[in-house]
Amino acid sequence: MNQEPAPPRHLPSSIGSLPVAYIADIGQFADQRVQLRGWLHNRRSKGKLHFLQVRDGSGLIQAVMFKGDFDDETFALADHLHQESALIVSGTVKVDARAPSGYELACDGLLVVSAAAADFPISPKEHGVAFLMDHRHLWLRSRRQTAILRVRARIVKSIRDFFDNRDYVLVDTPIFTPNACEGTSTLFETDYHDQKAYLSQSGQLYSEATAMALGRVYTFGPTFRAEKSKTRRHLTEFWMVEPEAAFMDLQGVIDLAQDLVCTIAADVLRDRSAELDLIDSIRSEAEEHRQLKPRRAALALIQKPFVQLDYAEAIEKLQALGSDIAFGDDLGADDETKLTLEYDRPIFVRRYPAQIKAFYMKRDPADPVRSLSVDMLAPEGYGEVIGGGQREDDHATLQAAITHHQLPQTAFDWYLDLRKYGSVPHGGFGLGLERAVAWVCGLPHVRETIAFPRLMDRLRP
Ligand code: 4AD
Ligand code: MG
Repeated sequence: MNQEPAPPRHLPSSIGSLPVAYIADIGQFADQRVQLRGWLHNRRSKGKLHFLQVRDGSGLIQAVMFKGDFDDETFALADHLHQESALIVSGTVKVDARAPSGYELACDGLLVVSAAAADFPISPKEHGVAFLMDHRHLWLRSRRQTAILRVRARIVKSIRDFFDNRDYVLVDTPIFTPNACEGTSTLFETDYHDQKAYLSQSGQLYSEATAMALGRVYTFGPTFRAEKSKTRRHLTEFWMVEPEAAFMDLQGVIDLAQDLVCTIAADVLRDRSAELDLIDSIRSEAEEHRQLKPRRAALALIQKPFVQLDYAEAIEKLQALGSDIAFGDDLGADDETKLTLEYDRPIFVRRYPAQIKAFYMKRDPADPVRSLSVDMLAPEGYGEVIGGGQREDDHATLQAAITHHQLPQTAFDWYLDLRKYGSVPHGGFGLGLERAVAWVCGLPHVRETIAFPRLMDRLRP
């Protein structure tokens, strides 16, 4: 609290000398006089009282102004403040069981830091998606949006702690890359000093190199896909965490992914249940139609063991559910939705046909039509959140796969070196952060899971 930025110089000493409280910590200041610094979220007046809803980024509290405690000018000023006006208020913190925060501020001082214009575009009524997305820089101030960003930040910490605690070494991988990792159809091309470079689709190939140096590694950063489809699960820029470990086989990959997802669910449940409840309480009609479980109930179900299905079993189940999918097909979004609606827990689908997976997947020695791949599908219709598997570790087989996928051999020389100098079985996976956040929060679309989403048709703001 002592490292706060200095308050504005014109702050009256009656306020300036008071301790600065954040609303989230207000319980520590019961019956004390404090100053709160934030923005006006809403207000109403009744006779000799003004009720100011003040938010400071950490929470929301009602500050009550009684006419008798203010000079006429200040009391009148409060009656003309628009939403989002920046304020410093002082007062005594009162326990109030009826207030959502459990406290209220008996206000005795008001300083308007900056009066907001009258036309703040985001009002409590429902707005269209395009309008909200155009005003994302202001939409972010809404309670639901701040709750989602807090859950996201908690998930990021959970992921970092999970790998750090297991002695996985964080190694950052490049964004500019000379080659594709996940197929050539979704590459963003850039002009790199007269050469072509692509924005990274995945750090995996580099993490395989660092895993051979450090044993267990992870990379966590932005990745890019020139997705040409507008769906609820595709961004063009998204964050992915990708662990990679030497000597890890397919089952090891599955076990690690399962532990990670259980840890995320438990951490969010423990530390962000208020945010989950808030998100549950502010749902659009379209969302309500989906009849999701309350998020706390949904996360409480995320316990080991998850469901494990062989790809062939998944196809049979889907056919029984009425899908026209055939052995050899990739699971479409609709198939994933169908399958995951059948279970409360995440599903691992193992051993997809090699034909529909990336070039680096290891062929199953027991059945070379199959690959040692796995996807984790999140329940309640969410679908793929994790993709990974065991990597091809044989030089000749990998070289043949690169040729088969018509990838430029020269761009992969270094990658093939890894199979030349001490190749070992190894594997890993990628978890898409935004898809994880969408599932944890029960959101209908990934666009709300990141502060400034990048979509096929959205580059601004
Ligand atoms: O399944 P993907 O393509 O796998 C890889 O990139 C591997 N190289 C990862 C690895 O093994 N190290 O992507 C992994 C995850 C998906 O399961 C999904 O959650 C997310 O990344 N993802 C996307 N998220 C949002 N928008 C997109 N366009 C995404 N594409 C993939
Ligand atoms: Mg995938």
